[in-house]
Amino acid sequence: MHLYRSALLRFADDGTALYEEDGLLATAPDDQGVQRVHAAGAWRALAPLYLPQASQPVTHWPGRIIAPGFVDMHVHYPQLDVIGSPAEGLLPWLENYTFPHESRFADAGYAAGVAGFFLDELQRNGVTTALTFATSHPGSVDALMAQAQARRLRLIAGKVLQDRHSPDGVRDATEQSLIDTEALIQRWHGKGRLGYAITPRFAPTSTPQQLSGAGALAARYPDVWVQSHVAENQQEIRWAQELFPGTRSYLDVYARVGLLRVRAVYAHCIHFDDEDRAAMRESGAVAAVCPTSNLFLGSGQFDFAGADRMGFGYGLASDVGGGTSFSPFHTMLAAYYVGREGQTKTGLSLAPQRLWWLHTAGAARALGLDGVVGNLQPGCEADFVVLNPAATPLLARRTAGAAHLDELLFAMIVLGDDRLIERTVIA
Ligand code: GUN
Ligand code: FE
Repeated sequence: MHLYRSALLRFADDGTALYEEDGLLATAPDDQGVQRVHAAGAWRALAPLYLPQASQPVTHWPGRIIAPGFVDMHVHYPQLDVIGSPAEGLLPWLENYTFPHESRFADAGYAAGVAGFFLDELQRNGVTTALTFATSHPGSVDALMAQAQARRLRLIAGKVLQDRHSPDGVRDATEQSLIDTEALIQRWHGKGRLGYAITPRFAPTSTPQQLSGAGALAARYPDVWVQSHVAENQQEIRWAQELFPGTRSYLDVYARVGLLRVRAVYAHCIHFDDEDRAAMRESGAVAAVCPTSNLFLGSGQFDFAGADRMGFGYGLASDVGGGTSFSPFHTMLAAYYVGREGQTKTGLSLAPQRLWWLHTAGAARALGLDGVVGNLQPGCEADFVVLNPAATPLLARRTAGAAHLDELLFAMIVLGDDRLIERTVIA
């Protein structure tokens, strides 16, 4: 057993934050060799019980905070070189920057180089689990999964499906794309901590045949994830409606082919009506809310109050490279701005504990990984960050003046970036 002593942040089942000024985290390996949380709580109460069982000296981090690793519910690993590409909106951004760049991932060596940089960047920013798009090239999945496995990360990824309205170099072939997807599921899903996600890019770039095939795979492999984009941008929505006449809404395109189910994660979900929201709730599908991307691409804003009123699940995500930052602090702050903007209409404002939960335990719950990652309660896999609340002069000054937990969390959300993450510990 390994004992850590520092301040400790974790979450109760109802999402409220639990904070120990002087905390103890005890971890022990499971039979796969993954460190799991054995106990978490106040040092004073737990130390007498666990000190005698410790196999090593206590790791003591005075002045630091141990907190759950962040969970990014939607990110594109191949797009880290696309961050900050200006465009009028989603569709020109895809055409002018994203598709040409993603075509480079046909080269496995290139993909491996980007995959390594991407995983470093996640860890530097305290992100320990991500649901990520690769590109349409099966080798882009292999490149990422192999390196994630070597790092023992809990990562979920999938080959993008896009067999139409896509340029040469990224467009795949309907039948082969489904064969490749199934082979990748068998190669990677459930290997160590890895998971696979069936990944139709979005309805406009898939034929009805490819979407139906993806739906058939989603039925055959119910514990595999599904990820896509929906209702992000008005122009995109009009296009989807033209391509799929007779569907009730854009979301309904996915519902009709069996892609709306538990473990299906839809990025954006901005331009929804209540029937769409009810369909999310009834199916168990969830939203990945990507506020930096929505602000950057001018897509619109997620309706937090609408989601809560209709009761479907969601969590936070970077959506790099439409999103502008890998830092969960930047994403939480952008979510706050978006929720705040909506407040004039709905009275909703996202509290710091809720923002933090939506990027850790709440995001894990939305992914179906409740009690596995995103928290530091007994049984959870021990993926955590060590925060240095004095990482910059202003952070030091502002966090020292925090009168209670919400002020401390909010100071870190507003002022934080990768400098706040002193170390990231995996399993
Ligand atoms: N819709 C289809 N593809 C993409 C993508 O790569 N990023 C975003 N934000 N939306 C998309
Ligand atoms: Fe995206």
